[in-house]
Amino acid sequence: MSSPGSDRIEDVMTELHEREDVAAPVSRRNVLLRLGAALTALGGAVMALPIVGFVFSSFARPKHAAAWVSLGPLEQFPVNQTRLAVYRNPYTRPWDGDTANIPCWVRRIDEQNFQVFAINCTHLGCPVRWFPGSRLFMCPCHGGAFYEDGSRASGPPERGLYEHQHKIEGGNLIVLGGYLPTLAEPL
Ligand code: FES
Repeated sequence: MSSPGSDRIEDVMTELHEREDVAAPVSRRNVLLRLGAALTALGGAVMALPIVGFVFSSFARPKHAAAWVSLGPLEQFPVNQTRLAVYRNPYTRPWDGDTANIPCWVRRIDEQNFQVFAINCTHLGCPVRWFPGSRLFMCPCHGGAFYEDGSRASGPPERGLYEHQHKIEGGNLIVLGGYLPTLAEPL
């Protein structure tokens, strides 16, 4: 049978042990583990930033960053001829350089009527070339061919060339740059 005094001493000893547990100094191993975990989390967050930015960039970008851009004076495009023209994509970043220069084929049908074709083949996107002798657009990649009005002539492409919206203003041919109609979003 223990006396009240010895009980008291036991209580005090127990309390002291508990305090030692709580106030035990953090070991170097624990510090290094926590530091390692923090650095790993930080590294992961830094590496994830570009991925998150890429995923959300499509939401942040305007759906159609389109703007009317001049292709030049009408005199540059003789009637009944098809000429190559280039415009600067209105949605560019400083590092885009020459990739922001967008080529297109301009067909002048008569004084007031034009067609402006995207240069990319509607099969897999190779640039098509205009052959005035045969009056055909030909694709060098898989032999796709298009008539002068852009409609499909032969080969793997399943449809005609895409056309840019355009208008005439102040004696210039103006094209809606930065927007290309597709099957999902036609003109
Ligand atoms: S990319 Fe033009 S035919 Fe294939």
